Amino acid sequence: MVMPKADLIKTGISGLDSILLGGIPRTNVILVQGVTGSGKTLMGLEFIYRGMVEYNEPGLVVVFETSPDKLIRDAAEFGWNLDEMQQQKKLQIVFTSPQVLDQELRSPDSLLLEAATEMGAKRIFVDGIGLLVSASGGGDSERGGFRELLQQLMESLSRENLTAMLSLEVGSALASIATVEASDFLADTVIQLGRERHGRHTQRSLEVLKSRGQDFDGGEHTLQIIAGQGLQVFRRVQAPLRVNAKQPTSSTMRSVIGVEAVDTLIGGGIFDGSTTMVVGVSGVGKTVLATQILREGALKQKKRGLLISLDEHPAQIIRNAQTLGLNLEEQVADGTIQILFGGPQELHVDAH
Ligand SMILES: Nc1ncnc2c1ncn2[C@@H]1O[C@H](COP(=O)(O)OP(=O)(O)OP(=O)(O)O)[C@@H](O)[C@H]1O
Ligand SMILES: [Mg+2]
Repeated sequence: MVMPKADLIKTGISGLDSILLGGIPRTNVILVQGVTGSGKTLMGLEFIYRGMVEYNEPGLVVVFETSPDKLIRDAAEFGWNLDEMQQQKKLQIVFTSPQVLDQELRSPDSLLLEAATEMGAKRIFVDGIGLLVSASGGGDSERGGFRELLQQLMESLSRENLTAMLSLEVGSALASIATVEASDFLADTVIQLGRERHGRHTQRSLEVLKSRGQDFDGGEHTLQIIAGQGLQVFRRVQAPLRVNAKQPTSSTMRSVIGVEAVDTLIGGGIFDGSTTMVVGVSGVGKTVLATQILREGALKQKKRGLLISLDEHPAQIIRNAQTLGLNLEEQVADGTIQILFGGPQELHVDAH
């Protein structure tokens, strides 16, 4: 069954569009919410930047607190040249106050929307809509004011055919429960960013809470902010596989270990696609056994192998294998065997 494809807008953020099964329906209002430092501003900037560079869609950025210079500077750390984009009229950064924006939206000839039309903007990012609470009078008794203001903002953006991303800081005094509820309800797509402590290291997460007009991969995915590159989303490993994705194998083929007695003992090798746990006290030969399986596979069956070490450094593994007459250097050099080394504390299962 082939469903007619809606007009999806690609965020261009690495890994995010596949979680969204291709993108977000055009003119959806996307709310990005999260605690301070969770990556909301960077996500908005990358959404605009990728739009300009990869999809030739001009964009607008509206900021209330941060100076445009700071945005330009921070973006440069990721290799995004916003200055140049502004000169080419593909980008406009608008620095305003919530009060001015409020008045703008109420007047029939909004300068902001005029600017958007003039440059043919397709995307807009408004950073920190929590600040609109102050423009709407603030206070819980006035929350109807915020809701109304936000609704007005969203409507005028949709009228201009803009796909909007709005960021909202949660967990601060500004964003009362009522503010977050109203924003979540009004937005078409809600993306939640998280920054949590796991032991002594920090882990970032991304979850799509809702998205009108489409299906998506639910649950908490892993987010990383990579200098010189941008945001990267890693799909949650437990997410159910989509139909066209590679299914797990239940092969009847076997991989030999290369020690005849052991291979015979287990019926001619271990099944391909299976998981075997090697258990034993320290020094009993677990690493050696595993190394031997990889080498045997590489040499005799042309099977590529991956050795993930959370303990010994690759050089150490190669040296130790060498002392037993298992030469790995050649296979490692030509890539038949790859050794991945990482500290267990910094390991993200989704990223791997
Ligand atoms: N060049 C960089 N390289 C790696 N990580 C970076 C870089 N620049 C920023 N970061 C990370 O991104 C975080 C800031 O993200 P961002 O400003 O998007 O958060 P935010 O959710 O908008 O926060 P706030 O609510 O305070 O505005 C920093 O705390 C830092 O961890
Ligand atoms: Mg921010």
